Amino acid sequence: MSDTQLHLNDLTRWLAEAGSPPDRFTLDLREECDSTNTRLSELAEQGASSGSVLIAQRQTAGRGRRGRTWIAQPGDSLTFSLLWRFAPGTLPLGLSLAAGVAVVHALQKVSRGGTASDSAPALSLKWPNDILLDGGKLAGILVELVPGTPHAAVVGIGMNCHLPDNLPDEVRTTASAWPDTTPPAQLLAAILHELGKAFSQFGERGFAALRADWLALHAHQDQHVTLFSDFAAPRQGICRGVDNEGALLFESDGKLERILSGEVSLRAQNALS
Ligand code: BTN
Repeated sequence: MSDTQLHLNDLTRWLAEAGSPPDRFTLDLREECDSTNTRLSELAEQGASSGSVLIAQRQTAGRGRRGRTWIAQPGDSLTFSLLWRFAPGTLPLGLSLAAGVAVVHALQKVSRGGTASDSAPALSLKWPNDILLDGGKLAGILVELVPGTPHAAVVGIGMNCHLPDNLPDEVRTTASAWPDTTPPAQLLAAILHELGKAFSQFGERGFAALRADWLALHAHQDQHVTLFSDFAAPRQGICRGVDNEGALLFESDGKLERILSGEVSLRAQNALS
């Protein structure tokens, strides 16, 4: 088992090894924090620079999408947020999907380095922004725009590195964890490096620059799914991928709809033959 503690000097070294320019990220590692997204948003409002990263060894009030919480014991999960300032006027539509692509690319690279597993891990993406490993949720992404600066976003990522023994069975069956043979600093450096690359592309061409990569990783392409929403009854349909703005293309009763809201989740039924 590797050291589950993250050390800033290791992270800096792994970032340089990944090829990130030395001034791309400003790193802040805290022993404890309520929510890295909340704190980094505050720092952003106070003028923190693009590329600021806030990492917490332990979060006391980690937040997820749709008002959920992100709960993890110290060492069980990688929890951090990255601030990215795009050019004024940039609409960050599909940014969380772009982040998902970056995380998967980073994990693929880390595992190809031979430290995580001998064979390629079965990584995929579930709309809008869950990262799956062997079909279970490995990581989640929470994107929040900085108040008053809609072209700046705080991208928070929580990734399971260990599932606690006392996890209820119903949660365990839908969750997965990255093998703890990868040092956390290497994992985080690889993810930050890929996020930096993806966000540079996004800044130039929007989500269109990463759409093909997203579709290649899509867990539910052309599958029957149930669409859950906070404001309507669940609906059955077929998942036809995403468009250039990251909207889900949902086919129901022979019509294709763009689902923009993040207030939905998908449950695959059976794949189309
Ligand atoms: C989700 O799957 O609902 C998104 C989970 C995002 C959790 C991360 S942990 C780091 C960052 N800080 C937070 O409070 N939330 C995100």
